[in-house]
Amino acid sequence: MDYEAFFGSALTGLHREGRYRVFTDLERQAGRFPYATHHSPGGVREVTVWCSNDYLGMGQHPSVLRAMHEAIDRCGAGAGGTRNISGTNHYHVLLEQELADLHDKEAALIFSSGYVSNWAALGTLASKLPGCVVFSDEGNHASMIEGIRSSRAERQIFRHNDPEDLNRKLGLIEPGRAKLVAFESVYSMDGDIAPIDEICDVAEAHGALTYLDEVHAVGLYGARGGGISERMGIAHRLNVIEGTLGKAFAVHGGYITGSEQLCDFVRSFASGFIFTTSLPPAVAAGAAASIRHLKASSAERARHQERVARVRQALDAAAIPTLANHSHIVPVMVCDPVLCKAISDSLLDEFGIYVQPINYPTVPRGTERLRITPSPLHSNADIDHLVDALSTIWRRIGLNKAAAE
Ligand SMILES: Cc1ncc(COP(=O)(O)O)c(C=O)c1O
Repeated sequence: MDYEAFFGSALTGLHREGRYRVFTDLERQAGRFPYATHHSPGGVREVTVWCSNDYLGMGQHPSVLRAMHEAIDRCGAGAGGTRNISGTNHYHVLLEQELADLHDKEAALIFSSGYVSNWAALGTLASKLPGCVVFSDEGNHASMIEGIRSSRAERQIFRHNDPEDLNRKLGLIEPGRAKLVAFESVYSMDGDIAPIDEICDVAEAHGALTYLDEVHAVGLYGARGGGISERMGIAHRLNVIEGTLGKAFAVHGGYITGSEQLCDFVRSFASGFIFTTSLPPAVAAGAAASIRHLKASSAERARHQERVARVRQALDAAAIPTLANHSHIVPVMVCDPVLCKAISDSLLDEFGIYVQPINYPTVPRGTERLRITPSPLHSNADIDHLVDALSTIWRRIGLNKAAAE
């Protein structure tokens, strides 16, 4: 086989469809978020980042940086092993206590990333629970889908955020069988929010375990940043709350929280937890500092929501089409992969604004978008500049379309 030709033709296909991914070479500047240095063949220049998942700017918070510096000075660089063989650092233990407390659960378990936590925890639960059937929301993230797939358990996909469909599908399974309902609180691309309480009602009625991914909600919602489940006062109804340390907490890693026995079970059987080097102690220390800060301070959450509302108002006033939702994610709908990339390029090249285009398979074809994530650190001037730039580009597209017709 001509392997190189195979790789080449697959990549040509991506180019042809307009969804070949080009990474933007950024150098983040401590103390300067949302500004970053962009390196390109054309030179080096400062840009405003409008698509970061460092939702609250905690990646530069002094208490987080201080904790990481201190941990490096005390412990050095890496963890030195897997959790079982010399790699459980005291910072990991403290972080797990912090996380269990965040979600008011008995225990927590940290993983290399949010992706790995979903893949390993769902894969282990679904494969080890005898005869388990997994009920997965059709909008679930790739990490959950992969975990469920790798478990080889029977899988039923229920309609997005639809407790009635879940109820119907659960009703078709023998009552005594193990069942696991996996879903998210805030869906990252549309920014819509699950009816968690109704899904819990249905799951409870059928004796199913519940597994909630709060990756896009932890740190951001609830009085202490425990996510949508905390805001709704229903964290206790979920058997597993999963999250990331890499988005609002702005460091790196993932985790699950749940009962002592459930976490011990995953700790004892999950290959993706057992057979890998644990997180560097400084990462664990930084994440714990970030969580601690956001448990005590709601100032970042309040300012975040205010900025999101302001961006939305300004976009609406400029008639830029967005998808409505009740979260912090502002999807500007372009609905064409080539145009979406072209708009993103213009924003960067002409206006010094960075928003990555989002294409298939991250979103369905025909729903390509610019996913804008305002932060507490974007100023009024940043917002005005973004909306002016988009208005200029939109006017130009309209004129181009008119000229072509
Ligand atoms: C819903 C959801 N779950 C899990 C993950 C993975 O988390 P991490 O980036 O920490 O691997 C992501 C995205 O990154 C996500 O969007």
